[in-house]
Amino acid sequence: MCGIVGYVGEDKSVEVLMRGLRRLEYRGYDSAGIAVIDDDGVLNTRKRAGKLAILAGDLEANSINNGRTGIGHTRWATHGGPTDANAHPHLGDNGKLALIHNGIIENFSVLKDELLSEGFTFESETDTEVAAVLLGREYQRLGDLSAAFLSVVGRLDGAFTLLAVHQDQPGVVVGARRNSPLVIGLGDGENFLGSDVAAFVEFTRRAVAVGQDQIVTITPQVVTITDFEGNPVEFEEFDIAWDASAAEKGGWSSFMAKEVSEQPDAVANTLLGRIHEGQAVVPELEAFGDDVLASIRRIVIVACGTAANAGYVAKYAIEKWTRVPVDVELSHEFRYRDPVLNAETLIISISQSGETMDTLMAVKFARESGAKAISICNTQGATIPRESDAVIYTHAGPEVAVASTKGFTAQIAALYLFALHLARVRGSITAADAAAQVVELQAIPAKIATVLLQESAVHELAAWMSDTRAVLFLGRHVGFPIALEGALKLKELAYIHAEGFAAGELKHGPIALIEPGQPVFVVVPSPRGSAHLHPKVISNIQEIRARGARIIAIAEEGDVAVLPFADTVLRIPLAAPLFEPFLAVVPMQIFAMELATVKGLDVDQPRNLAKSVTVE
Ligand code: F6R
Repeated sequence: MCGIVGYVGEDKSVEVLMRGLRRLEYRGYDSAGIAVIDDDGVLNTRKRAGKLAILAGDLEANSINNGRTGIGHTRWATHGGPTDANAHPHLGDNGKLALIHNGIIENFSVLKDELLSEGFTFESETDTEVAAVLLGREYQRLGDLSAAFLSVVGRLDGAFTLLAVHQDQPGVVVGARRNSPLVIGLGDGENFLGSDVAAFVEFTRRAVAVGQDQIVTITPQVVTITDFEGNPVEFEEFDIAWDASAAEKGGWSSFMAKEVSEQPDAVANTLLGRIHEGQAVVPELEAFGDDVLASIRRIVIVACGTAANAGYVAKYAIEKWTRVPVDVELSHEFRYRDPVLNAETLIISISQSGETMDTLMAVKFARESGAKAISICNTQGATIPRESDAVIYTHAGPEVAVASTKGFTAQIAALYLFALHLARVRGSITAADAAAQVVELQAIPAKIATVLLQESAVHELAAWMSDTRAVLFLGRHVGFPIALEGALKLKELAYIHAEGFAAGELKHGPIALIEPGQPVFVVVPSPRGSAHLHPKVISNIQEIRARGARIIAIAEEGDVAVLPFADTVLRIPLAAPLFEPFLAVVPMQIFAMELATVKGLDVDQPRNLAKSVTVE
């Protein structure tokens, strides 16, 4: 939520900042702006409401001087609407200091009153401008940007990453971080700052994650980090595991289309190095020791949105294989209801970005209450893994489209590996059964590839349904969270009312929604699975069909029982029941993407959304 980039080095700040913002735009696209100190030592700022292209067009029509030092921002509006005035950077110290911000400064109105009483004035409605003016005031007093930051950060409540430059200190960018992400890119004679490594990966793959409550100062040659008291902090470098081309569209019509198609690789890469001699062995869990894993009495999964849907899917597998009870909780509900937690509770957070504030707060709360925490995360150097006892990274590669797709399937793969590892340690599964599940898991990438081949059938369906105003999704067992996920995708991409229901729940109320022509997607469980599930879902289909529903069934190859009752059948390859979610979700992702495209919508940047939600 909000993308931040900082640069110091050669006389190319405008290009570096704009390229970084292009890669960060998925984090917010309400407005964008840059500030650059030119070679005459003058601070130039340009900012525009709307997507980055508007700022880029503005700069093309009327360029600003280049320079060696600068900051850039792409915004997801919180305080104040998406206007030119509210766009970042904001200025302090009579226009000599520029500041950008990701997060929310909760005590901004108290600080604003203080500054107003001292005669300072404001041009925007934002909390960020308050921080800029405060920082400017402290710069005037102390004459040094890092010192001014040290003086200001203690006065700010809430979540923030702040970056600033001052025209009297060219060649320096200073940043501070509390509860919002900030990563350093280490170059040769140049250094970078970014909300995530995408901001600078085309220039360097050497990075450092800035820790909680730290201030970082970069010059072309030197990087310094201190804590909020000014004590020096040692830092460790890491190598970014993917290159810039992974974050490019590479000929696809959208990032989402590319990412949907990358799911076979996302799952295969997540399995890599975690299967030995036919058994799931997750090296990252060694941090715990088998005795700790064996002592777990309860698992609580915390996550939001699509990541929570991955958690709901995994609950079925974890409970079946490990016999440990699992609750799945939306992170933002979790800590406010005084949950029962202790040292025998394991918290598993799931977050593609690793920055979702609701999930971060849930993890911190759980650990403070004595629970152990594992993070399932796709982003190196992100905050949630750093706040956890262990992390199992998904290796899906960068996910740029706002709607999560390959992140989701990779999360389920990581959770299944976790479950099989835990089951082995606890002895709750036979080696033969565990090995059979691993074989199923290893077969998933090729099976997803088969589903992707049938894309055109889904495109036709979407074109035919372009005027549809509401769609329902039904599933049972692991098909239920897939119904939730199908509905979420359609809502967020095509702005169509969509609901996912457990098929058995229909008769308890939602069946009243069915009227002639109502499209209903049904995830049909395998007839080879539980003896009861398949016929029950077929009965559910009949019940709604009798009331005029138009049925789109997602059913496995060879399931002929579904044919008399479905208007359209989308086929998925045979898989053991617990593995069907990997396959059944794919046509739903494609359907939502295609329907949005047919409606002329931007599938990568749906309205009102941002990729990583770093506010509560
Ligand atoms: C929907 C979507 C969101 C995210 C949710 C959690 O397509 O992407 O629902 O899944 O905001 O994000 P992460 O996984 O980054 O914590």
